[in-house]
Amino acid sequence: MTAQNAEPLMRLTWTDPVTGTHGYLVVHTLVSGVATGGTRMRAGCTMGEVEDLARGMANKTATFNLPVGGAKGGIDFDPKDPGAFGVLERFCSFLRPWLESHWVTAEDLGVPQHLIDDVFAKLGLQQSYHAAIGRSADPERTLRRVQAGLNAPVAGGLLLGDVVGGYGVAQACQGVAAAWGWDDAETTVAIQGIGTMGGGAAWYLHEAGMRVVAVADAAGTLYRPEGLDIPALLDLRDNFGEIDRSRVPAEVQLLPRDAVVGIEADIFVPAAISYAIREDNVDAIAAKVVIEAANAATTPQAEALLVTRGIPVIPDFVANAGAAAWAWWLLLGEVGADPADSFLRLRTEMQAKVALLLTEWNVDRVPPRVTGWQLAANNHVVLTQAATEHAERPALLIP
Ligand SMILES: NC(=O)c1ccc[n+]([C@@H]2O[C@H](COP(=O)([O-])OP(=O)(O)OC[C@H]3O[C@@H](n4cnc5c(N)ncnc54)[C@H](O)[C@@H]3O)[C@@H](O)[C@H]2O)c1
Repeated sequence: MTAQNAEPLMRLTWTDPVTGTHGYLVVHTLVSGVATGGTRMRAGCTMGEVEDLARGMANKTATFNLPVGGAKGGIDFDPKDPGAFGVLERFCSFLRPWLESHWVTAEDLGVPQHLIDDVFAKLGLQQSYHAAIGRSADPERTLRRVQAGLNAPVAGGLLLGDVVGGYGVAQACQGVAAAWGWDDAETTVAIQGIGTMGGGAAWYLHEAGMRVVAVADAAGTLYRPEGLDIPALLDLRDNFGEIDRSRVPAEVQLLPRDAVVGIEADIFVPAAISYAIREDNVDAIAAKVVIEAANAATTPQAEALLVTRGIPVIPDFVANAGAAAWAWWLLLGEVGADPADSFLRLRTEMQAKVALLLTEWNVDRVPPRVTGWQLAANNHVVLTQAATEHAERPALLIP
């Protein structure tokens, strides 16, 4: 059975005693008693959405052979509300038994890593990877390694932990270009969302020489067919990934928010909301391939329509898995604080996975998602067997 058609192990609904809003934790799979997945905050977040995301995490960890299951947290609250920190703190405090021992969480839509780390520090849990760090043979050393990796400086004045997910998305794009023989310099990209994932992807695609012609944030689409000056635009972002329109150069066209979906570009990267590509807007897609940086970016019905048009979707659980995979490589001591090692490992693994998915697509028109599910299912069997055989070793083998 694949994670796709299995029921989650647990669905939990929390009611905030102060605001009355709801938060959700869904644990889809556990490996050695541990699951991983970020926590999102969004007004309108539902249990169904968190379930989809937890299933995606289970596929993600298995596809990348990570010795951990998949879970997700979600809170139905506006992250810009002044009460947002308090809501997140109460949610984490309520879920403390899970966060102490079984659930490794991290940033997601509306919840930056520094915010969740502040909450963990306030709760005396050090850092959001606490449940895994606590199982390592030398927790203090593992914590030092994790902090050094997350805070390693990279180009653009940013930190490795903030850009690695977007770097992985850029590698998925470059993997497609390589598999289809496209010249990076001739390849155009449109990106919906310019926060952690979209911004990181835009930076590394621009650096690779691809032409990012459109980016969108929650306020609208910015378009320049000759290519946008990505580093300059990223400098104009606020903490929520929104670009200050008063400082956007005059040659950049300001279009409605959803115009990004129909921009003529080789690659479309949805990197903001879930269900960004739906039956009611899928006909507008003008790209040759969709690379899902956002979780659950394409509805199944919309993806089926894209497939009939010959447009493959590189699924979220592959394309955006960079941050999760890297976090576990760091926890396991397989990469350290040198960004070059992390980038090399991620580039190699991401491009190899994309090449595999596209081979099945090119030869037999198997949707990349289906090939990914099969890979995840096969890996999950091997991972759970290994965990059962070594059940007497509780430490996940983290050095
Ligand atoms: N941050 C991570 O490590 C990570 C890892 C894997 C997957 N993801 C997924 O990537 C997606 C984005 O996460 P993030 O962490 O980059 O979020 P973020 O909050 O840092 O950025 C979100 C961006 O999307 C924009 N946006 C919001 N609504 C929009 C809309 N309707 N149209 C266009 N733009 C809109 C915002 O203005 C912002 O630029 C989510 O689906 C998340 O689950 C994130």
